[in-house]
Amino acid sequence: MTSASPQPSSAWAVILAAGSGTRLAAALAEKAPHGPQRKQYLDLEGTPLFWRSALAFSRLQAVQGLVFVFPPEERAQMTQAVAELYRRDPLGLPWRVCAGGARRQDSVRLGLAELPEACANVLVHDAARPFASAALARRVLAALSAGAVAAIPGLSVTDTVKRVDHNNIVVETPERAVLRAVQTPQGFCLAPLLAAHARAEAEGWEVTDDAGLMERAGHPVVIVEGEEGNVKITTPADLELLRPKAQGAPRTAWGYDVHRYLGPGEVHAKARAMMLGGVPIPGAPQVIAHSDGDVLLHALTDALLGIACAGDIGQLFPDTDAAFENMPSAVFVTEALRRVRLAGYRPVHADLTVVAQTPKLAHHKPRIAAQVAQLLELPPDAVNVKATTEEGLGFTGEKRGLKAVAVVTALPG
Ligand code: CTP
Ligand code: MG
Repeated sequence: MTSASPQPSSAWAVILAAGSGTRLAAALAEKAPHGPQRKQYLDLEGTPLFWRSALAFSRLQAVQGLVFVFPPEERAQMTQAVAELYRRDPLGLPWRVCAGGARRQDSVRLGLAELPEACANVLVHDAARPFASAALARRVLAALSAGAVAAIPGLSVTDTVKRVDHNNIVVETPERAVLRAVQTPQGFCLAPLLAAHARAEAEGWEVTDDAGLMERAGHPVVIVEGEEGNVKITTPADLELLRPKAQGAPRTAWGYDVHRYLGPGEVHAKARAMMLGGVPIPGAPQVIAHSDGDVLLHALTDALLGIACAGDIGQLFPDTDAAFENMPSAVFVTEALRRVRLAGYRPVHADLTVVAQTPKLAHHKPRIAAQVAQLLELPPDAVNVKATTEEGLGFTGEKRGLKAVAVVTALPG
């Protein structure tokens, strides 16, 4: 048996972007201290959140136009912003902008008032849900075509949900199997939705979604399958979902450094006891250095800066700067690691080699590896330390100094 699924009903979409984003306000003020920043305006891969829904809906033939609802004080500015976005992404749909109200339901009512006479169905959508897909909107509209007056996306809940009183005491545990967590876009036949909003105004109903009004007005509301990814950006933790994902290939970079040993009988103001990878090497020759002289961490810092494409250690921490005198080199590694992360990468492996005729390093290697792993916030088995001599050749062979090489691999993300 074959049955063609109903063609989606045609509809306008109302995109709600008039909220104040109270639960995110403090986190956003930290990010953008100089201007008003609302969650619905946040950028995701070059596109403001409210515009992502417009892009998704415009992919459906059935969507015939868009109404954007913004805070009253930003209406003019956002009308310009929408016009500019239309120039960039010509959606081929008529659009209108209006001012919202104090509560979400006020914003919806004001948005509905902008719809043209001929409009029969509407999708009401939270701009704070930037991941809703065109396929989801299609499912909602298809349910309207199949005869529903109200159709909303919903998901089974995985947590057990409790009803509590004002003292946070549980009063009821509804059976989980009959619960659904609902989302937007919610689809409605326009006439009954307008009537329900009018009653809500007249009778003082308070709801958190439009389906709530329709239920109260006595209309059946149909659930269609929602989308796990269609989350509402609400709390600071949700901002993580908007973090740009670094793309592209892994990066590998190396660093190299040399330190001279204090000569026999030599006195030098910058002679330091030897440290390798943050581990003291007792009995080893002293090295001449501005900082604490940890040649291995200096090579590692340069490798990390290579991953971040952030120059070299000398640029960041000039040895002419008194502030870095005798500085523990772990500070350099930590700063370089911060830059790696800023560049969108995370180290996954480090391979380190110390070249020295003296001291013997074999029994220090495990401690050095453990220390470096900790600094890089890597598991111990992701760091390897090697030691070698140059067979008596060159300055290391002559025990006049030592060198270190670090190779770091990092992945995007
Ligand atoms: N919204 C609106 N007008 C309001 C309140 C909310 O248009 N008066 C919109 C929001 O912009 C958002 C959607 O309704 O796209 C869902 O609301 P919510 O996630 O609660 O956003 P805010 O109300 O802005 O956030 P908060 O509740 O944290 O203040
Ligand atoms: Mg709210």
